[in-house]
Amino acid sequence: MVPKITTPSGYLHEYQKSVSNPIGFWNNVADTFYWHKRWEKTLEWDFKKPEVKWFINGKLNITENIFERHLFLRGDQPAIIWEPNDPEEPEKVYTYKELYDEVNKFANVLKSKGIKKGDRVAIYLPMVPELVITMLACARIGAIHSVVFAGFSANALAERINDAGAKMLITADGGFRGEKIIELKKTSDEALESCESVETVIVVKRTGQEISFEEGRDFWWDNLMKDAGTECKAEVMDSEEPLFILYTSGSTGKPKGVVHTSGGYMVYTAYTFKNVFQYSNGDVYFCAADIGWITGHSYIVYGPLLEGATSVMFEGIPTYPTPKRYWEIIDKYQVNQFYTSPTAIRSLMAKGQKWVEYINLKSLRVLGSVGEPINEEAWHWYHDHIGNGRCPIVDTWWQTETGGIMISPIAGVIPTKPTFATLPLPGVQPVILDNDGNVMCQKSVEGNLCIKFPWPGMARTLWGDHDRYKQSYFSRFEGYYFTGDGVKRDEDGYYRILGRIDDVINVSGHRLGTAEIENAINEHPLISESAVVGFPHPIKGQGIYAYVVCTDMPDAGEEELKKSILKAVSKIISPIAKPDKIQFVKALPKTRSGKIMRRILRKIAEGEYSSFGDTSTLTDPTVVDDIIKGVKE
Ligand code: PRX
Repeated sequence: MVPKITTPSGYLHEYQKSVSNPIGFWNNVADTFYWHKRWEKTLEWDFKKPEVKWFINGKLNITENIFERHLFLRGDQPAIIWEPNDPEEPEKVYTYKELYDEVNKFANVLKSKGIKKGDRVAIYLPMVPELVITMLACARIGAIHSVVFAGFSANALAERINDAGAKMLITADGGFRGEKIIELKKTSDEALESCESVETVIVVKRTGQEISFEEGRDFWWDNLMKDAGTECKAEVMDSEEPLFILYTSGSTGKPKGVVHTSGGYMVYTAYTFKNVFQYSNGDVYFCAADIGWITGHSYIVYGPLLEGATSVMFEGIPTYPTPKRYWEIIDKYQVNQFYTSPTAIRSLMAKGQKWVEYINLKSLRVLGSVGEPINEEAWHWYHDHIGNGRCPIVDTWWQTETGGIMISPIAGVIPTKPTFATLPLPGVQPVILDNDGNVMCQKSVEGNLCIKFPWPGMARTLWGDHDRYKQSYFSRFEGYYFTGDGVKRDEDGYYRILGRIDDVINVSGHRLGTAEIENAINEHPLISESAVVGFPHPIKGQGIYAYVVCTDMPDAGEEELKKSILKAVSKIISPIAKPDKIQFVKALPKTRSGKIMRRILRKIAEGEYSSFGDTSTLTDPTVVDDIIKGVKE
């Protein structure tokens, strides 16, 4: 098992070692895993190209490190505890042995349907155990999984399937989310109309709702699993062969297919999981994220299972049937580490204290936060009311591209400070650059957060578009990985993440590109152009503000047009991308070179109507006055 830091001096020692001798440091961690063949060279890298390789020529299979490595000691220990949406429905518990059997069975099913190493398998499932089984079955045979969040629309699903060239889609008849039923098969059918690469669709029965079935293409999960064998030899993978693709938003409209590889991702997720959460044998760990996002990949599935943990997976939402659902789950399974997002914390805080009273949260030892900056009020509420003042909060900063946690307290080891992600984990070398690319060496500074040295969990490329990988992360500041985040460092050397400084907004911890929302709005026949910015939102962190120019206002009026814009955005992307505010404007403020001055639009969205800075390049300053007038009216 990976080494665990347990004291502040242990942290300092390990951190120093990881900087002065990164090769020795990571060799030591990687040596705790099972490799078919040990790597020949630990690292080759060049951020200018960019190219990064870890554990070169090492051979492994990540599922052997989850199962074969643990079965002897932990075969009967729960690996996944699945808590359904409806608390009246019984939970399901999979021991390591049971999960192993299911994974092998489904791996055999995949093979029987012609899936082999390197093929892409799209997964569009709700939070059911079959989702974990499918991911691990793909990993078992070297197929590359691409999980698409079940809240995405048919259009968004099709775009991701086509970009990856997926041969197979795994979906369900439907999914439960609170009181709602999501029609996953119906949406899949719609998406598949424009996906030529998909040959087979496997459908998990979850809701029992009526669905249509295409003969020869669609198969029920249960029928295929019935006769599948429980033994499937693991495919031997090179360290640098892809494990999965996960799409995320960038500053242009097209989603980015972030590629993670087998060896480095394995080493990094296991190491960070064990250390940040201070997981010990026998603990029960609950991450409330959705597996459709990176947090679920790294910290519900891979990190915990690699470390032989018991990981709780929850199908539903925090407010169903009541806002005490998370706390009941913590009590029910005696959870020791709990990991969620600031949005969830704020929304539960807003429901009032009564939902937390009389629930036994004594089992908790560590609380985690991820996905967006956590404000002081939410931090204190979480600390005082959920952690009862005795559980450290690990405010973990990281990204889809980083694969695992980068800057975070190590629970109980690094003293916390509200709103600060604190210090880099061993192996992570952050730097703060000014806008001209100079490294700001002083302790107390604010600037662009970059990383100057590779870490094993970093994404290696964007699927099918290495140029875009270079453009997105390695061109703004040559020789550095640019995170897209602004950061402040204080006198103690602690880091506080200030949020995105590119055209990406973070709504309820969901990362959305303003361009993709604008593209969706602009599809509307009555709209000529639009500009989308974020604004501070008390629950969601950021809300979406859309300035929209329409060619003709329909007779039905503004309200009807707003409704149809919201509908279009839901259909093209997802309901999560629906603007909170839509303002119709005559024109957008543009520079003489035709660029939208978003800075001004952001200020107006924040409720500030002056101090716009230099506006001398605006073609028509009256446009701004009109917009402000519109808001005031
Ligand atoms: O802006 C940062 C914010 O979320 C972005 C990454 O989003 P995504 O790739 O979807 O991954 C989210 C889950 C890891 C970052 O660029 N972010 C993430 N964690 C934090 C954060 N902002 C502030 N504090 C955090 N702890």
